[in-house]
Amino acid sequence: HPSNLQMEENSSLRAANCRAKGGAPGFKVAILGAAGGIGQPLAMLMKINPLVSVLHLYDVVNSPGVTADISHMDTGAVVRGFLGQPQLESALTGMDLVIIPAGVPRKPGMTRDDLFNINAGIVKTLCEGIAKCCPNAIVNLISNPVNSTVPIAAEVFKKSGTYDPKRLLGVTMLDVVRANTFVAEVLGLDPREVDVPVVGGHSGVTILPLLSQVKPPCTLTKEESEYLTNRIQNGGTEVVEAKAGAGSATLSMAYAAVKFADACLRGLRGDAGVVECAFVASQVTELPFFASKVRLGRTGAEEIYQLGPLNEYERVGLEKAKKELAGSIQKVGNFPQTIF
Ligand code: NAD
Ligand code: LMR
Repeated sequence: HPSNLQMEENSSLRAANCRAKGGAPGFKVAILGAAGGIGQPLAMLMKINPLVSVLHLYDVVNSPGVTADISHMDTGAVVRGFLGQPQLESALTGMDLVIIPAGVPRKPGMTRDDLFNINAGIVKTLCEGIAKCCPNAIVNLISNPVNSTVPIAAEVFKKSGTYDPKRLLGVTMLDVVRANTFVAEVLGLDPREVDVPVVGGHSGVTILPLLSQVKPPCTLTKEESEYLTNRIQNGGTEVVEAKAGAGSATLSMAYAAVKFADACLRGLRGDAGVVECAFVASQVTELPFFASKVRLGRTGAEEIYQLGPLNEYERVGLEKAKKELAGSIQKVGNFPQTIF
């Protein structure tokens, strides 16, 4: 007689095959760090996403429990759990999209840069696995400091000969989600109708909302622009302080990560006109990486858009952002012996 585990595995496979025969579009998605504060709600939301046929949940702790729990949801995706480094390769094999929220979050008084040493090592190990097992997957990197972890991931992929800049995307969607919310509040609009491009990077002054390009078009006073820019740049710190030592944004981040992952999957499916902001290898400025609007397609970030016209306040902000961003990118080059 087959064991319970075998029976469960067989019925999951039967369900997956059955759906595949039905021709349902389905992508294979892995979440690395799936048992964490972001990972759990992210896993739940991806289990609901109709574009996902297989969902792999990997963590170094607690992934069996999260997997058992989420696998009972009566939605299409088949869920499988993977625990610890020996199962990393199985978690990654065959994946179309890998989302990485693995790593340590901030506590009050810390900057995202303070997470560099520990999270750099985690991202490096996970990206080595991706290079080996699913080198063609799109990677959505959430682990902080994003301004440095994306350059680290790029180095790992270069070393393994699998680097394709179009497939490596640092997730800055939460900055856009916050910007849409805060701008809508000031303008008295429904946030779902508001679209604010946020460029630069994902930390302090590198987060540069382009309020002169808000859709629908609007006029903000100098005071409103300063208030909004400041609030958007410090949105992460606002949550870190409110959580008072219990971590950083997890629920709004899971929402933002799913919004971004869904856009990546629609791009992979071949939908036209999928455009979101992301931190990518870029020639928009003199820096090697920069966040701006990108068009997502079958091969990842297929087009990277220029910043468009900036007002004087944004031009000053851009100079500050570039200066700080240059340091965060440079930091990766300064630590080759510790990281590589
Ligand atoms: P958390 O501590 O709640 O969860 C992190 C998870 O990662 C844990 O379950 C942990 O076991 C796991 N993990 C640690 N090392 C791992 C490894 N080697 N392989 C796989 N999993 C591993 O933290 P969180 O609140 O979920 O935040 C995770 C990261 O996301 C932090 O670095 C945080 O700063 C970052 N973050 C980024 C954004 C963004 O906008 N890009 C927003 C919020 C948080
Ligand atoms: C955020 O913007 O909420 C995240 O980057 C987490 C943090 O440390 O602020």
